[in-house]
Amino acid sequence: MDVKIAADLSHVTADVAVVFATENPDCALLTSNEAARNATTSLLGSDILGKPNELTWLYNPQGIGAKRLLVVGVGKAAKFDPNVARNAAGAAARQAKAKNLKNLAILLPEGKFRHFTDENWLRAIVIGAVVADFDANYYHSDKKDQKLASVTIVASSGASLESALHEAQVIGESQNFTRDLVNEPGNKMTPTILGERAAAMAKEVGLQCEVHSTEKLKELKMGSFLSVTLGSEEPPALIVLRYEPEGTTSDLTVGLVGKGITFDTGGISIKPADNMEKMKYDMAGGAAMLGAMRAIALLKPKVRVVCVVCAAENMPDGKAQKPGDVQFAMNDKSIEIINTDAEGRLVLADGLCYARQLGATHLIDAATLTGAVAVALGQLNAGAFSNDDDVYDRFRHAAHNAGERFWRLPLDDEYREQIKSDIADIKNSGGRFAGSVTAAKFLQEFVEDRPWIHLDIAGTAWNDENKPYIGKGPTGIAVRTLLEFVRSFAA
Ligand code: BES
Ligand code: MN
Ligand code: ZN
Repeated sequence: MDVKIAADLSHVTADVAVVFATENPDCALLTSNEAARNATTSLLGSDILGKPNELTWLYNPQGIGAKRLLVVGVGKAAKFDPNVARNAAGAAARQAKAKNLKNLAILLPEGKFRHFTDENWLRAIVIGAVVADFDANYYHSDKKDQKLASVTIVASSGASLESALHEAQVIGESQNFTRDLVNEPGNKMTPTILGERAAAMAKEVGLQCEVHSTEKLKELKMGSFLSVTLGSEEPPALIVLRYEPEGTTSDLTVGLVGKGITFDTGGISIKPADNMEKMKYDMAGGAAMLGAMRAIALLKPKVRVVCVVCAAENMPDGKAQKPGDVQFAMNDKSIEIINTDAEGRLVLADGLCYARQLGATHLIDAATLTGAVAVALGQLNAGAFSNDDDVYDRFRHAAHNAGERFWRLPLDDEYREQIKSDIADIKNSGGRFAGSVTAAKFLQEFVEDRPWIHLDIAGTAWNDENKPYIGKGPTGIAVRTLLEFVRSFAA
């Protein structure tokens, strides 16, 4: 998709021109463009109410270089912000795609809306359109290419918006890069393939990349990670990406660690057949890290970053690990396996240790770790945990700027009791109560004193329903926030 900026709608040829409208008590079209205003004056407040994601199609408007004018409602003016604009642009783009219209022009909102700048609006709208253009249908033999051809942002202010445009395109495309990985079924996305996709991406954007397998895991004494791989014919992949900015003197290094279970059957503690097919998205945390690294490599913040993705397939087999087995992680902690389906924390334990060994001073991990987080927070908010209030504050700002929702859950010491083991230092399941918290407490054993954030995205990495602005399927949650979080450390 080609994304560009134009100063004047009358010079743009598009299949549809998109304009935003707010709801009562200030029902108004958010543009000074005369032609668009003329086309809608008699309809505003009656046929066009400006309700959120309301879409009104007008045909053959006078004085507009497009055959159609699409008015998108954005709700109350007082609540209109870039998040709303992103979704409104996404809804418009998805509707246009549904009608097979390939070239869009979107008028940047005009009017006084709190402190938002043209850059803010443009970034949000471009990300919304790029994310809406994601295509998850490629395994249907009758679905031809449905991608948009172009989106032109019409900005009459004449401000220089080229760098915001580039940035937004990189961010949206990186989110879609992650979604593409997550969308693949288990037979098309093995640990090896994930490693190959990471390496190809790294080459394209200029990142250092190494992909290791069983031998290296043994060498590094990653007994916890290895234990998950025993039941699978597919070799694991330890994917390491490094981003070294030019001219940094600080040794602050952000470590991104992702769960990359390419399919989670549960292992010997096998999952029920119902919905098991969804466990192809159990590598969404790892994929989010790869998407974030792509964006970081292209946008070049002055912060060193190391990324570790632990990819494996969790299968039952004669060689698979069993409940009751004891494993040793890289930091020599012993782990009693209570449930082989609590495998994410096992691969992350070694991933977190390794990121520290590679120099990470600050850690952030993302994982589809527990069903319990979806019970607690549903599909709206992802769970977030931290051992450091200052770093959490930084993270919260990053998430706000990125327009993604996380909710902090506790890590009180007393929860540690639930993962005490009779035979080993800890056990890998804390039982039914506070399942997401005890999973996070398990991970905490491997971060030592490093400031650390853990994101449990099990409930938010996959949409079960279509929304106006994003289709059902992989969401790419956390990519945008991870980028903002890393950027927040730049000098
Ligand atoms: N991958 C699952 C968590 C999950 C559940 C992700 C639903 C997405 C949707 C994870 O490996 C798992 O199986 N967790 C167990 C932990 C339990 C055995 C302690 C769970 O949540 O039931
Ligand atoms: Mn599992
Ligand atoms: Zn899992």
